[in-house]
Amino acid sequence: MADTLTIVDHPLIQHKLTILRNKETPTAHFRQVLREVAFVLGCEATKDLALGEVTIETPLEKVNAPYLEGKKLCFVSILRAGNGLIEGLLDLIPSARVGHVGLYRDHETLEAIEYYFKTPDKLNERLVIMVDPMLATGNTAIAAANKLKDAGARDIKFLCLVAAPEGVEKFSKAHPDIPIITAALDRELNEIGYILPGLGDAGDRIYGTKG
Ligand code: URA
Repeated sequence: MADTLTIVDHPLIQHKLTILRNKETPTAHFRQVLREVAFVLGCEATKDLALGEVTIETPLEKVNAPYLEGKKLCFVSILRAGNGLIEGLLDLIPSARVGHVGLYRDHETLEAIEYYFKTPDKLNERLVIMVDPMLATGNTAIAAANKLKDAGARDIKFLCLVAAPEGVEKFSKAHPDIPIITAALDRELNEIGYILPGLGDAGDRIYGTKG
């Protein structure tokens, strides 16, 4: 598998992912658990942020202590399911900016078609973490990364919850410079582009728009 792929197999994440996979999990609980998982995945995605040093005083003495040097951050939600990860990431880094990319999958060709694009300025100075719970065919993520690069982004990571081997391969070929962080690498895609075993349609699970 691609060497740009990181699977975060922390027991808490794996436990929460089981809750998310379970079709009996109600919408409100699904949303809450997804938020919690996003927080932990966000820790992994930001683990190489540069640290500087600042001198502070504890109640007992002076100490040189680490602090974030302040590389600007931008989370980019691939609509609509990406929004399910954004709250958890903002819990982790409240000052981050948020962009949105709207791409839908043509159900016949499975190609990504853009309908919305809005990001903060100076993308070239930011660590851009684009998020979508599902890396399935890879078409949407590839198109989103293309758009972000066109808009100036140079330092991009892709954070997802569940990835299909087909999507990882295609995405890492198209964007070998973009690390992929995921909670699970599933078995395969089915004939209509859903991940198996997966968790179903992430947008429908987050927003309760089916059944
Ligand atoms: N998008 C989803 O929401 N689920 C899948 O399994 C594949 C793509």
